[in-house]
Parts: sequence; structure tokens; C-alpha cells
Amino acid sequence: MAETPTIYVLNGPNLNLLGLREPDIYGHDTLDDIAGRVEDAANEAGVDVDFRQSNHEGHLIDWLHEANAMGAKAVLLNAGAFTHSSIALYDAIKAISVPVIEVHLSNPHTREEFRHRSYVGMAAKGSIAGFGANSYLLALRAALDLAGL
Ligand code: DQA
Repeated sequence: MAETPTIYVLNGPNLNLLGLREPDIYGHDTLDDIAGRVEDAANEAGVDVDFRQSNHEGHLIDWLHEANAMGAKAVLLNAGAFTHSSIALYDAIKAISVPVIEVHLSNPHTREEFRHRSYVGMAAKGSIAGFGANSYLLALRAALDLAGL
């Protein structure tokens, strides 16, 4: 039997603090709450989810390479503040063939000017931002459509 298709969901710095961190901006859901919702929606579509978080840029880069090598169908990437600073993440997304969808809980374009530049967005297939935890579910929908699942 063919292997179950997998979508990676990668989360960057400070997202482990969701629920406690600036809830007026990021909401009250924890990252575990979001992981549960994404996994339920993906499983309904017959897809496995590999959901991870790290505060370290290199981990995110290694995981992008891994998703590509493992034949993941897509990556949903909320790179947190690395979004706005990391040319290494830009290069990693450019270096792989698996489609990457940029995800943000908040809408960085309505916030401080330093959040307006997104190196992830410059390399990603597309971006979904500003819908709180629902951004992840909308991005999952986009990933499933992209992959024809
Ligand atoms: C974020 C937006 C980033 O600007 C910020 O640094 C984060 C969270 C979001 O999901 O809204 O850490 O990626």
C-alpha cells in the first residue's frame, strides 16, 4: 500500500509560548491546541502531519531539507521573527522543491515596519496571515489543494 502523504508544519521562535505570549495579538490558543486542530483536519483528508517547533534557526533549515528529502507534500512554515531576518531560510526554501506556505497568526503588514519585509514570503509559494489559529487551517487547505489531496 502507498505511504500516507505527509505535510510538515514548522514553527519558529517564541511560538512555544503561544497562549501566554501577547494574547491580544496572538490569541489564547496554545501551539498544542493548534497542532491538534491541524492534525484532525489533515487526518480527515487522509494526510499525516509532522508538527514541530524550535527556537533555533538551524533546526528550521534542517527540517525544511528533511521535509524535501522525505517527500513531504508541503510545508506550512511560521518562522516567527526569523521571517523578517533570515536569508538562510530564504535560501533553504529556494533550494528545495517541496512547496512552502508561509503562515502567520497576526498580519505583519499591519504591525511594526520591521515586520513588513518577509524573506520567507519572498521564497514561499504563498502566504496566509492575520486569521489567528485559523491561518494554519487555511494554509492546510491550500496545501491539500496544491497537492491534489
Ligand atoms: C508571527 C509574526 C512575526 O512577526 C512574529 O515575530 C512572530 C509571530 C505570527 O504568527 O503572527 O513571532 O509569525
